[in-house]
Amino acid sequence: MCWVFGYIWHPGSAAREVIAGLQRLEYRGYDSAGLCVIDHASNMQVIRAVGKVNNLKVKSDQHDFSTYHAGIGHTRWATHGGVTEANCHPHLSQSGRFVVIHNGIIENYSELKQELIEKWYTFNSETDTEVTVQLFEDIFDGDYLSTITKLVSRMHGAYGLVFLDRDNGNTMFGTKKWSPMVLGFGKTERYISSDYRSLIGLIDDYIILEDGDIFLLTPDNYQVLSEWLAADRIRQTVDESEKVAELGDFPNFMLKEVFEQPRVLEDVFRGRIDFDAYSLHSHTLAHIATLGIKRITVVASGTSYHSGLLGKYYLEELANIPVDVIVSTEFKYKKKFVSTDELYIFVSQSGETIDTLDSLKIVKEQWGHVFAIVNVPGSAIARAAGQWLFTRAGTEVGVASTKAFVSQVWCFLFLALYLWQKNGLDYRKYREIIDSIDKLPEAISDLLLQNEAIKQVAEKYAHSQNFFYLGRAHELVIAMEWSLKLKELAYIHSEAYSSGELKHGSIALIDAEFPSLMVNWGGILSPKNASSAEEIRARGGKVVWIIAKWDSNKHIYADTIEFNPLISELNPFLEVVILQLWAYHIANSLGRDVDKPRNLAKSVTVE
Ligand code: G6P
Repeated sequence: MCWVFGYIWHPGSAAREVIAGLQRLEYRGYDSAGLCVIDHASNMQVIRAVGKVNNLKVKSDQHDFSTYHAGIGHTRWATHGGVTEANCHPHLSQSGRFVVIHNGIIENYSELKQELIEKWYTFNSETDTEVTVQLFEDIFDGDYLSTITKLVSRMHGAYGLVFLDRDNGNTMFGTKKWSPMVLGFGKTERYISSDYRSLIGLIDDYIILEDGDIFLLTPDNYQVLSEWLAADRIRQTVDESEKVAELGDFPNFMLKEVFEQPRVLEDVFRGRIDFDAYSLHSHTLAHIATLGIKRITVVASGTSYHSGLLGKYYLEELANIPVDVIVSTEFKYKKKFVSTDELYIFVSQSGETIDTLDSLKIVKEQWGHVFAIVNVPGSAIARAAGQWLFTRAGTEVGVASTKAFVSQVWCFLFLALYLWQKNGLDYRKYREIIDSIDKLPEAISDLLLQNEAIKQVAEKYAHSQNFFYLGRAHELVIAMEWSLKLKELAYIHSEAYSSGELKHGSIALIDAEFPSLMVNWGGILSPKNASSAEEIRARGGKVVWIIAKWDSNKHIYADTIEFNPLISELNPFLEVVILQLWAYHIANSLGRDVDKPRNLAKSVTVE
């Protein structure tokens, strides 16, 4: 998505601070970037570049910024208008006095644009954003906050807007609705950012703005208004433990994050499971367990949706609670039947995904029980839900979610075990699962040692144009996540299918160039999977098997990736690691940018 960053204070620092801020935000949206800096003599420079923030930096390096003390910058994920320099933010008003950056979508921009064109305003871009700054100039009454209030009353949609006035270098102002925005306070410097974590190390404390807030920031003061009144927003202290992620010895963040998973699991267990006493601890879940929940609906997008599907498996199989899982974009507009014995779980790595957030708000308005599984404390979804489990995966920079997925799935397993205790627990099975959870970090570490072997098999198939990913039951969910990873990282078409369902039509696609991957570690559906694979082989198709190390039929398979299974309930954690490495190596061998795949954004804050 688009992200905004602003800085005000030291002469000569503005451009450097803004570019550094954009680089920290870049993983969240990266098709183009731009900045604007101003000085106290009403000089202004605007620089824009298509592509990565580094392109903007290279262009900026040719300029002298020694007098500029205030600046705003933007990374863009195109919505309205193609990826061109003209469409890059910042955008200027007709006179060139006001300049804006924007994250969100102005839904009624074409009406507003038409109205402004009739008043002889001319537009230089195809964006919805440009109308905000033109309209601001048109209605400017000499007071920033009052004009923003009038501007907001004219706009429909989502926005995080930050303005600069070329003729007053001491002030930044703006507003937000549905797009995240924080004000950051350093020793003397002042910042604005879409993401609080981009400010860690720069600030002492910060304010999270709420929807409808209008703000004004100067080097020595700030004001936040809500509905014309001063809003008393809490200044929160920075949690230094949430450090900005660093690559270390890894070639990219995706590989680093895949290898972090054993440690992430140990973190997510901490204080929640006592492996010696076989006991589970969570104040939030203790409360949820008192609600008399009879049904659960999980709402999420992308990889988080897949963790919800695995959550369904755990909650139904273990806790005996029926679960529906629905993608946020569909949930938002469907008819709802909110009742007091139903729990709504909203899952999000970023905690900012707009459709998930909106869905949550709708359920809350209908007095439903809501609960969030999120990775970012203080995120909009965490705040709106009021009760949550944090996934403790740390900052995830790779756009394709890996470690956050694994910790989300674990949170679902934890929830299922917790509710199972209150609902017909089979204690022998329960102990078996707890014992296997204890072994999980080490089992994943062992699997990661096979990175090179997985790479060799994956690269053999890197030039295939299509793939089937096949599985049954919870392994079908793994196949779905597998398929998504390959699409987003390698840009290769793939489909996840129930191996049993393939014969009802889709097997017609199989030929020697259309490989399938199948998990067959030896569970009760193993013979069924084997039959499906035989049907594929009989039609000239190749099957890559993910099998148990002790599988006695190894010699008959074309290619295999072997692993040491745990118990059935825990195997998805291992299988997902194999799929992450598989997709990673295929994408890498094709020269893809695995951290920033084309057309994507880490956090989707527009509808
Ligand atoms: C984007 C990301 C996906 C992610 C999805 C949901 O599409 O590229 O990796 O799964 O958003 O994000 P969330 O932060 O809500 O989990």
